[in-house]
Amino acid sequence: MKKTGIIGYGSMGKMLLGKFSESGKLRYDELYISSRTVSKIEEASDKYKVMDSNIELAASSDIVFICTRPKDIVTVLEEIAGVVCEDTLIVSLNGSITFDSLEKISKHKYAKVIPSVTAEINRSQTLVTYNGYADAQDKADLMDLLSCIGNVIELPENEMGMGSELVSCMPGFIASMFDVICRSAKQHTSIPDEQIIRMVLDTLCSTGELMLRKDMSFEDVVSRVATKGGITEVGSKVIYEGFPDIADEMFEKTLAKRRETAASVKG
Ligand SMILES: NC(=O)c1ccc[n+]([C@@H]2O[C@H](COP(=O)([O-])OP(=O)(O)OC[C@H]3O[C@@H](n4cnc5c(N)ncnc54)[C@H](OP(=O)(O)O)[C@@H]3O)[C@@H](O)[C@H]2O)c1
Repeated sequence: MKKTGIIGYGSMGKMLLGKFSESGKLRYDELYISSRTVSKIEEASDKYKVMDSNIELAASSDIVFICTRPKDIVTVLEEIAGVVCEDTLIVSLNGSITFDSLEKISKHKYAKVIPSVTAEINRSQTLVTYNGYADAQDKADLMDLLSCIGNVIELPENEMGMGSELVSCMPGFIASMFDVICRSAKQHTSIPDEQIIRMVLDTLCSTGELMLRKDMSFEDVVSRVATKGGITEVGSKVIYEGFPDIADEMFEKTLAKRRETAASVKG
């Protein structure tokens, strides 16, 4: 397997290290970590090879994941650019920073990878996109590595923003929507809060499973449940009338925020 280095021992870095290691994809001597605050990675030293610096890690790796916050990506890239081999694939965990910006710092093979929180249960819909220098072998190697956290979906770079809203942000959007629904339900019932949440969650999961297994569309489900003149039809009508404006506003704001992040981190 390709020697893999992870820069940044935060939420994403820890998750990827854990998954690559526990899946058996990478052995101890193939998985490297470096991070800014050295004391934080001491706990990792029995599981992964801790490198003294980002430079040492980058010079030793075939694939380098930069798992820092967007504002630190440029600093890290400028630091390692001189030692990264021509064949090494550099992976940014941030979808907003363009290949154009990264290539202004150094002309290398780049990929951008966006996992979702469902990687925790190996059910991520992980997005990936590549710049023009990455070849078929780079794509196959990265796909193989990332398959341990779920499905891997390749998109063109210009669709990574909306793609990220649909799979990476979506668990947060889904949780927000159903939190609102459960809070509202609580005002109209004596069913205990925890039971309300459990009932909605189980129904949410089984509805998704039903749609996937039976190849049903959202409209199919609505028409199966919302019979003419019935209760569901009344509630469903309220959602179809009131929710489109909220959904439009949500995507307008999230996509504007992405453009802002991309503009603030130019190479
Ligand atoms: N969290 C998510 O759900 C999610 C999902 C998809 C993509 N992402 C993307 O993944 C990236 C990482 O996010 P995160 O949530 O994992 O961030 P995080 O928890 O804040 O972790 C960032 C890590 O980078 C380290 N770091 C900062 N500057 C560094 C440097 N110069 N050299 C080495 N290490 C450095 C930090 O060290 P310190 O301990 O010193 O702060 C910290 O350990 C972001 O670009 C984010 O957009 C996140």
